[in-house]
Amino acid sequence: MNLKLLLILFNMLNLILGDKIATFPGTLLASNYSTQFSHIIGISVEECALKCLSNIDCVAFLIAENCSIYTFDQLISVQNVVSANETVGIKINGSDSETCPSSFSSLNLTGSVRELSYEFITTNTPGLFNFSQSSCPNDWKLFRRVRGYYCIKPYFFDRYLIYNKSFCNPYSSYLSGFDNQNEVDYIYTEMINEFPDITGAESLAIDGNRNISCYNNTTISCNDFEWTNNYSSYPTFINWNTGQPSGETREGIQENCLAFRAFLGPIYYANDIICSDKVRGYVCGKPVGDWDE
Ligand SMILES: *[C@@H]1O[C@H](CO)[C@@H](O)[C@H](O)[C@H]1NC(C)=O
Ligand SMILES: *[C@@H]1O[C@H](CO)[C@@H](O)[C@H](O)[C@H]1NC(C)=O
Ligand SMILES: *[C@@H]1O[C@H](CO)[C@@H](O)[C@H](O)[C@H]1NC(C)=O
Ligand SMILES: *[C@@H]1O[C@H](CO)[C@@H](O)[C@H](O)[C@H]1NC(C)=O
Ligand SMILES: *[C@@H]1O[C@H](CO)[C@@H](O)[C@H](O)[C@H]1NC(C)=O
Ligand SMILES: *[C@@H]1O[C@H](CO)[C@@H](O)[C@H](O)[C@H]1NC(C)=O
Ligand SMILES: *[C@@H]1O[C@H](CO)[C@@H](O)[C@H](O)[C@H]1NC(C)=O
Ligand SMILES: *[C@@H]1O[C@H](CO)[C@@H](O)[C@H](O)[C@H]1NC(C)=O
Ligand SMILES: *[C@@H]1O[C@H](CO)[C@@H](O)[C@H](O)[C@H]1NC(C)=O
Ligand SMILES: *[C@@H]1O[C@H](CO)[C@@H](O)[C@H](O)[C@H]1NC(C)=O
Ligand SMILES: *[C@@H]1O[C@H](CO)[C@@H](O)[C@H](O)[C@H]1NC(C)=O
Repeated sequence: MNLKLLLILFNMLNLILGDKIATFPGTLLASNYSTQFSHIIGISVEECALKCLSNIDCVAFLIAENCSIYTFDQLISVQNVVSANETVGIKINGSDSETCPSSFSSLNLTGSVRELSYEFITTNTPGLFNFSQSSCPNDWKLFRRVRGYYCIKPYFFDRYLIYNKSFCNPYSSYLSGFDNQNEVDYIYTEMINEFPDITGAESLAIDGNRNISCYNNTTISCNDFEWTNNYSSYPTFINWNTGQPSGETREGIQENCLAFRAFLGPIYYANDIICSDKVRGYVCGKPVGDWDE
């Protein structure tokens, strides 16, 4: 591997943040569920690197003419492409040697943002580094929320189960609401993968309770659902289907719980269900790192 690697050191910032930026010609593959965090037009590579260093959430950037900043729920991999006319910058740990290394192999590609650590992992393809963060358990997916970082995992079942509000608790987690479109897209995609012949009957339990003062009150203005914890921002990020929440009652019992319902399309929405209805799975979530309470 003959890699051209330039290590940019910002000594003052380095003292404060303990971070460095390594740059190389290449491309950066963003996750499907996000776009870049910010897009700054017409600045230099050095200025872009400074933006990344001073942005605590930044783990990498891509710049040609414009500087795009990526946070780590937005990355899959970066690739060194010698002929590329874009520059990739990755934020790595500042604790190792301050001299400029001549190859990736002599560089420690670990880093951390807030309390979350991550690394760029070498793959079988020369110059391809996959991005990996260790702060969520392996099969949980990290998302940036309004108040902090958050791990989400859907659990699916091959049979219908009676809704259980405590399902997530043994995984040190809670039923999760949605904070942004990326989370909805992720759960939708996972659900369609799990149930390729989905008909809409396959609801997933999500967080959300009818306001208790509206129990047994089917007045439309009483269709007032609330998250049960502070990990989702308010107002709720929910896509109600036409006519939902319906506040229906069956045999005197009202629909006081929430589910995520999906169809091929993509079509999905939140639906109020009876808290003893059956679901095909759960969306669990837990906060990680610093969390603004
Ligand atoms: C990165 O460096 C900081 C201090 O500079 C250290 O606290 C942290 O543990 C390091 N992270 C990793 C993943 O090595
Ligand atoms: C991203 O989306 C495209 C088009 O839907 C798909 O072909 C590709 O497999 C997706 N990549 C990942 C990593 O999800
Ligand atoms: C940079 O941003 C400007 C304004 O959005 C856009 O017109 C231009 O095509 C961008 N350049 C590149 C290389 O993406
Ligand atoms: C950068 O890449 C684009 C797409 O391949 C190409 O059109 C453009 O001419 C390249 N610019 C330079 C300076 O090489
Ligand atoms: C990179 O740094 C981390 C933390 O300092 C350390 O645990 C790890 O062994 C180092 N990796 C390499 C390849 O030096
Ligand atoms: C690295 O990520 C790419 C997608 O960008 C994926 O196709 C590949 O399997 C990953 N490799 C490893 C070793 O994780
Ligand atoms: C609900 O889930 C919790 C956690 O797994 C379990 O302890 C409890 O027994 C379940 N309740 C019912 C009624 O199955
Ligand atoms: C329930 O709704 C009532 C009336 O809209 C409101 O005053 C009250 O704050 C809500 N309860 C909670 C726990 O938010
Ligand atoms: C709502 O009505 C049901 C069925 O009559 C009853 O069991 C339940 O206690 C009522 N809930 C409240 C909060 O009034
Ligand atoms: C039902 O809710 C509506 C709207 O909040 C309220 O005006 C009405 O008094 C409630 N009815 C009962 C019986 O609590
Ligand atoms: C959410 O935060 C508010 C304000 O800090 C607090 O009063 C409330 O008890 C919290 N709710 C929960 C469910 O933790």
